Amino acid sequence: MTEQQKIERAEEDTVAFTVEDGMAWVKFNRPEKRNCMSPKLNRRMKAVLEELEFRDDVKVLVLTGEGDAWTAGMDLKEYFRETEALGLGAVRKSQRESYGWFERLRWYEKPTIAMINGWCFGGGYGPLFGCDIAIASEDAQFGLSEINWGILPGGGASKVAQELMPFRKAMYHAMMGENLTGKQAEEQGLITEAVPAEKLKERVLEICEALKKKDTHALRATKWTMRRMVDMTYDNGLEYQIRAQEALHSFGGAAARKEATRQFLDEKSFKPGLGTFDTSKVKA
Ligand code: ACO
Repeated sequence: MTEQQKIERAEEDTVAFTVEDGMAWVKFNRPEKRNCMSPKLNRRMKAVLEELEFRDDVKVLVLTGEGDAWTAGMDLKEYFRETEALGLGAVRKSQRESYGWFERLRWYEKPTIAMINGWCFGGGYGPLFGCDIAIASEDAQFGLSEINWGILPGGGASKVAQELMPFRKAMYHAMMGENLTGKQAEEQGLITEAVPAEKLKERVLEICEALKKKDTHALRATKWTMRRMVDMTYDNGLEYQIRAQEALHSFGGAAARKEATRQFLDEKSFKPGLGTFDTSKVKA
């Protein structure tokens, strides 16, 4: 790629995606800029996520990065310096574009997996948290580097660290600007699991295959319920769970549950404690 092309990557080329065998593989696609998030990338990512969300051939979405980064956070040039030079209106617009797709991802209609293949900094914690499951390479690097260039961890990053990590670890992480390896990020709760780099895709595929076999409506209801519980009291949580289960019934949940119960109690063809029922036998 020439220097000129590097600078002028078209908006539609800032995100790449393919759909194969029920899996959408979405990539931050600015490897020459360590996949940092520019306004163009943020707009494109929202469009791609929306395009994929209701496709019948997409059962699971994986978010990963081209090259040796997942994402190096917000683009200090295009997202911060150049936008700030245009005034408050431009700043708010580009904040809304980025927070908008992080939010879309948090409440996505399909299960999502972050496959963290390398650098993950600052603003990258928004989509990291947005994904339901996060699997990283052991040698990936995670950093709240904001403090290293004189800002606080905004755009959701402080909330993500406080939400996922033990408080003492989160505070140290935010104040010191030292990176964590994938392994450390796993130990501190920031991600689900770290695996050797050469096993990363294999492990993500394994999880995708397992998720693909689950009842899709029950998965949606489960991920939303888990996220809603974070700021609910026990009693409000119980109430929400009752209502969400009842709502699930109107999306085919009643039939799925009846069939699963039949397979366990009558057919004895599966055990819920050991695996998933055969969703292909659910009658609409
Ligand atoms: N914003 C803007 N440009 C970036 C960013 C970024 N966040 N990250 C990388 N780049 C650019 C570099 O300026 C460089 O551009 P150039 O080729 O035009 O000079 C190119 O990407 C390659 O980056 P290098 O620094 O040369 O790559 P290297 O592999 O040596 O280092 C690293 C990678 C450690 C990720 C480094 O690029 C870095 O520190 N990036 C910034 C990370 C960061 O702190 N992000 C902001 C977090 S705070 C927030 O998101 C709000």
